Amino acid sequence: MTVASPDIRTARRAFPPAFAWGTATAAYQIEGAVAEDGRAPSIWDIFSHTPGKVANGDTGDTALDHYHRFREDVRLMADLGLTSYRFSIAWPRVQPTGRGPAAQQGLDFYRRLTDELLAHGITPVATLYHWDLPQELETPSDGGPAGGGWPARQTAYRFADYATLVAEALGDRVSTWTTLNEPWCSAFLGYGAGVHAPGRTDPADALRAAHHLNLGHGLAVGALRAALPSAAQVAVSLNLHVVRPLSERPEDLAAARRIDAVGNRVFTGPMLKGRYDEDLLEDTAHLVDWDGLVHDGDLAEISRPIDLLGLNYYNPTVVSAPADAGRLPRQDGHGGGQSSPWPGADDVAFHLANDDLTAMGWPIDPTGLSDALLAMHREFGLPLMVSENGAAFEDTVSPDGTVHDPERTAYLRAHLGAVADAIAGGADVRGYFLWSLLDNFEWAYGYDKRFGIVHVDYDTLVRTPKASARWYSEVIRRGGLD
Ligand code: FCB
Repeated sequence: MTVASPDIRTARRAFPPAFAWGTATAAYQIEGAVAEDGRAPSIWDIFSHTPGKVANGDTGDTALDHYHRFREDVRLMADLGLTSYRFSIAWPRVQPTGRGPAAQQGLDFYRRLTDELLAHGITPVATLYHWDLPQELETPSDGGPAGGGWPARQTAYRFADYATLVAEALGDRVSTWTTLNEPWCSAFLGYGAGVHAPGRTDPADALRAAHHLNLGHGLAVGALRAALPSAAQVAVSLNLHVVRPLSERPEDLAAARRIDAVGNRVFTGPMLKGRYDEDLLEDTAHLVDWDGLVHDGDLAEISRPIDLLGLNYYNPTVVSAPADAGRLPRQDGHGGGQSSPWPGADDVAFHLANDDLTAMGWPIDPTGLSDALLAMHREFGLPLMVSENGAAFEDTVSPDGTVHDPERTAYLRAHLGAVADAIAGGADVRGYFLWSLLDNFEWAYGYDKRFGIVHVDYDTLVRTPKASARWYSEVIRRGGLD
């Protein structure tokens, strides 16, 4: 969506009684146990072990050892009063090579985890894919035909098979599912900018990956519907860019349009409207043969109806025409890189929305969250959930062992206020999943950036709720902001 300017905010702070108060995590960022019980490497195992790709050479080998400590982590969630928990399933743990039969021990882990959640009254929300493609699908050891990762069409079909296998195993206990997490990052940071696994830098491959992620999503929606009880809710989680032009000048509006096309509509178009917009196809026609890429029937498959749209929001995106004086270096959101994650728009200039920044260098602007929710509500009319929102700050442990993180609490308060504003404006927002429960492996930044409301000591793996966790717990207890 392109948003010109923030609206005037209302003062209402109402949340519906059934609102899901959650936190979110992802498998590779927390689980560890990367070589246990039959798990095979994912593209993130290989990428993080490649020198120079991740800060400090950090990897997810041990991460938070959640694989063994999940009971403790569920207990923490219960103590905080969370009503819901969004986690991801590691594809290479449940189907190690990305094809063929399931690894029962891998599935058993998620059965234990979900049993534990349900026993504590916490509703599980499962994400099928949070970036950890089995390496065997990226570079098959036998050189077989399924190689090539998401730029290869076959990966979409493998994903649907995996969805079936997981839904059959967990469908009796998980009723809300998300197919993909942030396919923009998978396609454009993974295959365009190369700052995420698998680290490839080819704009055409990035666009191919986007289409095959879309196709994989649609096929997986079909697979989930076939395997799950009819009451199950199926969603996708998108990091829609709240694109704001620097000015109303035509060239800045054009820059915003281009970023909206390749940042947002490349996913919302096929998934929610059954089409790729003409301007996106034109902007990228010199890079990829769309007619060859999009087969007959693909758009119908991709646009299978979903029940819920997940929005991941961190900051707005301010853009201008390339020639603008004072332009800043490109910001990719998840680290620099020499190649562009914006095929067809790689000369657009990016600007900070303001200089109130988190430790990621991301500007704090909660109006972007209400704008995005309201824009999605108006455009698609779907129920929504905030499937991620949160902030990294330089947390320090006080001598008494506590972590005072007033900046995070202020961030969360402001963003929950923005959710309440969107609800007051008519958006049907069903839940909020705070990123993240625990400090964790923040992709190319390694363990340097702490997003958790629970502090993790990486030497001892001891978990300590921060002050923001206590605050969030109180919000949940009251059912909203005061
Ligand atoms: C999102 C990712 C999540 C985490 C947060 C900070 O883009 O989905 O895994 O890295 O950013």
